[in-house]
Amino acid sequence: MQRFTRVLALILAVSFAVASASAQAAGDAERGKVLADTCLGCHGIPGYRNAYPNYRVPKLGGQHEDYLVLALQGYQADTRTHPTMSAQSDSLSAQDMRDIAAYFASQGEAEAGDLVTKGDAARGKEKVAVCTACHGEAGRSPAPNWPNLAGQHKDYLVHSIKQYRDGGRKDPVMMGQVVNLSDQDIKDIAAFYSKQSGLFTAQYSN
Ligand code: HEC
Ligand code: HEC
Repeated sequence: MQRFTRVLALILAVSFAVASASAQAAGDAERGKVLADTCLGCHGIPGYRNAYPNYRVPKLGGQHEDYLVLALQGYQADTRTHPTMSAQSDSLSAQDMRDIAAYFASQGEAEAGDLVTKGDAARGKEKVAVCTACHGEAGRSPAPNWPNLAGQHKDYLVHSIKQYRDGGRKDPVMMGQVVNLSDQDIKDIAAFYSKQSGLFTAQYSN
């Protein structure tokens, strides 16, 4: 019996250690909230615009936590070129990024809804067939490091796809995916994803 108790204690100790190690890696949303205060000055205002070129800043609410970290790493490493976001990410440590991402993720998951294929979205539907394996049928992606596109601003999607096509973002996977898209294809694809339910503007929270 005593031996059994000791073994049980050991198992509990090991699982506690594993649990606290993963909690540390997962990011601290409370700490992230403080760090995210300046970010919300742009990302927390519905429809807020980037000055030049003119497009709305991306919605971060409902975005995958791991993808948010990857995106910030991209601006920090300059594989994504955007002067403001490079400046914003330069001073962030790896832990800061995880904490900020945990905070945005704590605002809720991407909203689910029926697939919209009417109006603007109709032409894009054909053209996203090659994208669905990673971004999901309706733009809600199945893996944490592939971004949700559903509900993202149309003009931001146009801009970001062109960044991969024209070299402003250097992600080998995405560059290969969009290299042959015309400007019209990109508009149609962006219309399709922006019409689906999913992402939302992150908010200041108490
Ligand atoms: C002055 C406005 C502004 C501020 C402040 C700002 N951002 Fe951004 N952010 C932008 C714009 C504009 C983009 C799109 C950049 C691009 O075209 O790649 C962006 C892109 C992003 C992305 C990529 C989203 C995606 O879908 O790929 C993340 C993540 C992000 N910002 C997080 C942050 C965080 C975290 C902070 C605070 C530390 C912050 N931003 C501060 C304007 C801002
Ligand atoms: C093999 C998986 C894969 C496929 C297929 C794929 N993507 Fe992606 N996509 C990714 C990954 C990974 C990223 C993040 C890259 C990075 O770090 O910038 C991404 C990023 C994006 C983004 C940027 C989102 C944002 O918030 O800035 C857009 C837009 C996008 N993909 C559109 C498409 C379109 C359109 C297609 C089809 C023509 C497509 N993708 C096909 C994996 C994929």
